[in-house]
Amino acid sequence: MDELLNAQNIEYRDRAREVTEKFVRPVAAELDRTGEYGWSILEGLKEYGLTGLWIPKEHGGKGAGVMDLCLVVEQLSRACGGIGVAYAVNALGSFPIILGGTEEQKKKYLPAIASGDKLIAFGLSEKASGSDAGSLQTTASKDGDHYVINGEKKWNTNGEVASAFVVYALTEPEKGMRGISAFIVDKGTPGFEVGKREDTMGIRTVPVNELYFENCRVPAENLLGHKEGGGFKNAMMTLDRARPGVAAQGLGLAQGAFEWAWRYASERRQFGQTVSSFQANQFLFSDMATQIEAARQLVYSSARLIDSGAKNVSKLAAMGKVFATDTAMKVATDAVQMFGGYGFCRDYPIEKYMRDAKITQIYEGTNQVQRVVIGRALTREMKSISDFLDVKIEHFPGFED
Ligand code: CAA
Repeated sequence: MDELLNAQNIEYRDRAREVTEKFVRPVAAELDRTGEYGWSILEGLKEYGLTGLWIPKEHGGKGAGVMDLCLVVEQLSRACGGIGVAYAVNALGSFPIILGGTEEQKKKYLPAIASGDKLIAFGLSEKASGSDAGSLQTTASKDGDHYVINGEKKWNTNGEVASAFVVYALTEPEKGMRGISAFIVDKGTPGFEVGKREDTMGIRTVPVNELYFENCRVPAENLLGHKEGGGFKNAMMTLDRARPGVAAQGLGLAQGAFEWAWRYASERRQFGQTVSSFQANQFLFSDMATQIEAARQLVYSSARLIDSGAKNVSKLAAMGKVFATDTAMKVATDAVQMFGGYGFCRDYPIEKYMRDAKITQIYEGTNQVQRVVIGRALTREMKSISDFLDVKIEHFPGFED
């Protein structure tokens, strides 16, 4: 499908493919076993000029956008879903600053993320505030030229390895979600601690932690955009732009699982023929390939829409996330089935795809939340479309008075 990509897309995709084969695939199983962060892979990404692609050129990045980000995440995830998100989560952490930071804040934080010398994390969710992100309870009260943050964050991907954290907290609790503001908190700030690491089913190479804030004093200059109250919108706009990255992680996982299943079924013989030559399996492979291609086109479309500067990107971003990550889970499960009993064992690489795929349906907004976002957009759009229809539904039989 190179015909549908431009020269820059192909260049970044091919570099990412090289990094994947050279640096990711050889260590994916070991990182999964040990839970260590892929530092050698980060060095590979730096060597190949792939860190911080999405960061504007004037702030040290490549100014490449979400489409190229997706192509890189897709390639990395073909070999390891954990490495895919370890890369993509830096985009999730830097989008709030790109979208809402002051020039000073951009200059201070973005260049080191662009070069890969520093990593960043996104702190929105809490123990009791997941899908209902607007119900968060962490507070930040103004005290002179500082804010004092108190509370806890949950599911902080990159927690242990990040140097900076975008943290959402209530500056005006009486206003509910409209009283949420965003802060950039540096690692090591007194009163801030990266806590418990989750023992996760998949993506085990990337640390997911709790964050604790106890009377943590953050300089007022670290209030994102130097403006109180825009935090929830900033988080929503960030998620709209980051979801194609998770979708690309699902896409890469599906593609990678498909490739392993194809290879195995082409070599494994039962009843005197290769497993892939049974028509039932050919149909299964056809369905897998069709679903993957459909996911790819949806993910790329959502990424291109965002890069076009369009304002209404929520629906397509949510559609891409739902479809690609549901595809990842389905294809990975079918791929395990294709391996038979061996698919259930860690001797083979395939079970990891199934474990890594599961979280893509959950984080950066559960797939149920994505359907809420799509449903709300449809309600708005379909209302205006229905207004243009000449035919009145009440004229059909069964609708008369
Ligand atoms: N862009 C801009 N503004 C938006 C917006 C968007 N996409 N979505 C909502 N808003 C605005 C609304 O316009 C509204 O503004 P006003 O105050 O001016 O009216 C305001 O935000 C409130 O919007 P809603 O009434 O729609 O809010 P809601 O409470 O009904 O919630 C939701 C909507 C879509 C369910 C939202 O809560 C949501 O996305 N939840 C999921 C959160 C999520 O994805 N969490 C993942 C965190 S990251 C992670 O997983 C960890 C990791 O590290 C990988």
